[in-house]
Amino acid sequence: MRTSRVIAFVLVVLPVAAYARGMGVCGRSGKQAAGTTCANCHVAAGNAPTVSITGPDSVAPNSMTTYTFRVMNAAAPNTRAGMNAAVGPDGVGRLLPGTGLTQTAVLGTCGQQEVTHSTPQNFNMGAAQWTFTLVAPANAATLTLYACGNATNGSATTAGDNTIYTSKTITITTPTWT
Ligand code: HEC
Repeated sequence: MRTSRVIAFVLVVLPVAAYARGMGVCGRSGKQAAGTTCANCHVAAGNAPTVSITGPDSVAPNSMTTYTFRVMNAAAPNTRAGMNAAVGPDGVGRLLPGTGLTQTAVLGTCGQQEVTHSTPQNFNMGAAQWTFTLVAPANAATLTLYACGNATNGSATTAGDNTIYTSKTITITTPTWT
């Protein structure tokens, strides 16, 4: 009896735990505090990728605008990537996840201001990319998009991976009343 329970635990519980973080991480985009990124756990192997957030620098109040986050693979052994993006300050602006992104990661929910990968994305021509939508607040504001990318080697551990963080300032223009 006892042995079969142990076997059941190993077969059922451990695989879920083992892939928990690979299936998305919230709170590590660099928004929460300086240094809260994927690098808290993933140990660099020397082939740092480059990352970019592309999209408009300024958008209208209440608008919905698509931004693209890209992780470009520097070199082998990186084969795939994951990400966590967030908008701040707290409570101002929202993000909607695009294809391959989620707000309900296995380890906790990201909330409405964050998105993360639902599974690691394989590099295609040396890059992985995701799009998400910024829902702008109703009033003029200065927002920041934060994003951390992690180019990994597919080992399903934190070793041999390369993480990098970036941010982008976005101005919400003054509303015009007509
Ligand atoms: C609190 C520690 C921790 C943080 C922070 C963390 N990870 Fe991980 N991550 C892990 C662990 C442990 C694994 C290996 C086991 C697993 O998959 O759960 C892992 C695995 C992964 C994998 C699969 C590994 C592979 O070799 O392909 C990806 C992709 C990944 N994480 C992405 C991220 C991203 C993106 C971030 C930052 C936004 C991040 N992780 C932040 C602990 C962490």
